[in-house]
Amino acid sequence: MILAFESSCDETAMALVDAHGKVLLNCCLSQIELHNRYGGVVPELASRSHFEILDELTQRLQKAEADKVFDRSQIQSVAATMGPGLIGPLLVGSNFARGIASAWSKDFRGVHHLRGHLASVLLDPQLDEKYPGLTLVEKAQKIFPAIVLLVSGGHCLLMLVTPQLEARILKTTSDDAAGECFDKCAKLMGLPYPGGPSIQKEALLCTSESEKSLAREWAAQLPRPKSEEGFSFAGLKTAFRLLMEKDPRGKANRPALCKALEETIADSLLKVIKSADDSFEDIENFICCGGVAANLHLREKLQKWSDGKDLNFHTVPFSYATDNAAMIAVAAWVQASNLNEQQVFTRGHLE
Ligand code: KG4
Ligand code: ZN
Repeated sequence: MILAFESSCDETAMALVDAHGKVLLNCCLSQIELHNRYGGVVPELASRSHFEILDELTQRLQKAEADKVFDRSQIQSVAATMGPGLIGPLLVGSNFARGIASAWSKDFRGVHHLRGHLASVLLDPQLDEKYPGLTLVEKAQKIFPAIVLLVSGGHCLLMLVTPQLEARILKTTSDDAAGECFDKCAKLMGLPYPGGPSIQKEALLCTSESEKSLAREWAAQLPRPKSEEGFSFAGLKTAFRLLMEKDPRGKANRPALCKALEETIADSLLKVIKSADDSFEDIENFICCGGVAANLHLREKLQKWSDGKDLNFHTVPFSYATDNAAMIAVAAWVQASNLNEQQVFTRGHLE
């Protein structure tokens, strides 16, 4: 088993995952309430809060050990996210993990946060149905090499990824990430953080023909990126604000506004993916991961496109799409074992 910690932003998470991907313990405590009143994450408050929550997680770990969920001797390594993220929270979480590794005489494995998102797709129970009995390393060999769309609050990347989770970046964003666009537009509409789930919930209320036609009209007015330049969402956010300001129908039709935005973001992502068509030669697998991969409309759209291209589409189970520690444990199992902590930090390494 690997015991892992994730603390790169405002979630303090701990998980215990075995070599086959069975999740024996999975705790994720969010600080959203603490930061909500400031309109964003306050790094210093986050660091202190991680520190306090780790105390609670230690108690849960002790209880799990007492309840025989695991035996200390079964733990091979302790892993933690080393970056990218907020430096204070990262230091609190990773030093805590290092402390446990040292006290229990286990080796310590640093994990790149994005590699955690890449590994999260290996937690899909459908893989066990399709390939029973495989270890995580063997499962990784089944679904990688793959082209991966990683869409989260901080990143928007199209990558070619190997079974050891080495990645070459094909397309990136020139400004905001897709999740950031969801979050900022939600704020403009007065919807709560995180914006993605709030917008999805509201968009699902856009059901009548008249609302759907309004959503189509608005979606047609919103801009898409010029595909050859990669992803871009800052212009969309501004255009969305201007649309809200100039069209008086927006106030009474929030579900249609949300639907138009959700569709435009999914369209924009797909437009850039299509522009990287050449990279799909000899590739059988297409993967979507990261917090925004929880979006139902995006999943449907990517599945349909993959079916048309004869690609196997894999995505992350909903419960592991946003930040969690199980994905960090899985990455620690699967990533090239010769990684040292220095390498985990370098940009070149993820490429
Ligand atoms: O991966 P994640 O937890 O954190 C980062 O590493 O950034 O992703 C968080 C992002 C937020 O921007 C959130 O609004 C977005 O994922 N998100 C969604 C959905 N669930 C979370 N976006 C669209 N639809 C969702 N259902
Ligand atoms: Zn993340």
